[in-house]
Amino acid sequence: MKLSIPDTIAAITPYPPGKPIEELEREYGIHNSIKLASNENPLGPSPLAVAAMGEALANLHRYPDGSGYYLVRAIAEHYDVEPEQVVLGNGSNEIIEFLVKAFVEPGDEVITSHPSFLMYQKFVQVRGGINHVVALADMAHDLAAIADRAGDRTKLIFLDNPNNPTGSYLPQHRLLDFLDRLPEHVLVVLDEAYVDFMDEALKIDIGSLLPARTGRCGVVSLRTFSKAYGLAGVRIGFGLMAAEIAACLHKVRQPFNVNQLALVGARAALQDDRFYRETLQVTAVGKKTLMAGVERLGCRSFPSQTNFFLIDVRGDATTLYEAMLRHGVIVRSMKAYGYPHYIRINVGTEHENGRFLETLQRCLTECGYV
Ligand SMILES: Cc1ncc(COP(=O)(O)O)c(C=O)c1O
Repeated sequence: MKLSIPDTIAAITPYPPGKPIEELEREYGIHNSIKLASNENPLGPSPLAVAAMGEALANLHRYPDGSGYYLVRAIAEHYDVEPEQVVLGNGSNEIIEFLVKAFVEPGDEVITSHPSFLMYQKFVQVRGGINHVVALADMAHDLAAIADRAGDRTKLIFLDNPNNPTGSYLPQHRLLDFLDRLPEHVLVVLDEAYVDFMDEALKIDIGSLLPARTGRCGVVSLRTFSKAYGLAGVRIGFGLMAAEIAACLHKVRQPFNVNQLALVGARAALQDDRFYRETLQVTAVGKKTLMAGVERLGCRSFPSQTNFFLIDVRGDATTLYEAMLRHGVIVRSMKAYGYPHYIRINVGTEHENGRFLETLQRCLTECGYV
């Protein structure tokens, strides 16, 4: 075999896959570990979704409904948009991929922030596009620098709002000024994977930004069922956008890109108000407890509008991550993101939060950070 690998593909570093918990436990000789590393829902999946998916099992010999007819309508009603403005994806990740496939040609430019969600840049690399990466300023998107960067060949701008990993958010008035500064041909993608956890008053009024308007750039909102609805494992997310943009994304997707369990699970989850509210409540209370706890231990916590937050452990983050792993607590070191002293954790259950704080205390001492 003599592979001819395109330079664009050879240059890509694959997304670092986490090891399965079972494998980590075997490697480290631990058990009953807890994982606070992937911003998942500590309460599990929505019970209504689980019941609906259970009922759907008998139909798995059928292809899914490629249009996602019922889920699209449920989402449209929930978010007060037209069904033509909704595109479903195998996780919101897939909508990112559709946007890049549909709008970026080799040599075109895409602007992202660093640090932010890693997948934007990878899809651009696959397409042979050019990534312009703008450093966060004060842990938030540097809108002025991004607007300065936008030019004739800029096709997309990805802004995760709130940002992963810092948890910072964009105030609406600043976003509106920013949109006014951009060329009309640019599409701004607001990745709102964590919007459910935001204070209501801080959420962007996305409905007013979606309709196509002459003289202003287009805006797309990305949402996911992976976080607040606890469905990360079945992979289902969606995008809200002007119908003209959605029509382009439908051209680049596979006919059955969303599986049947995801379609029925997400539809039921959307009705599961009780689970949704409980998730928000557990997250808000847990975040407060955790932040107060880490501050008591001499670490610094950073404000966050999400279900996770950064902690300055005042020492090498990866050393602390390893120490916590040996005690069965899986967190995320932020060293590779340019924050050598920070870890990121998501809020867990009350029990998990308590175990995290106990283990942090022990490991800070072990590592000699306090
Ligand atoms: C900012 C951000 N966007 C998108 C995603 C992808 O979510 P999904 O599971 O819907 O693909 C994540 C996942 O962690 C994320 O942090």
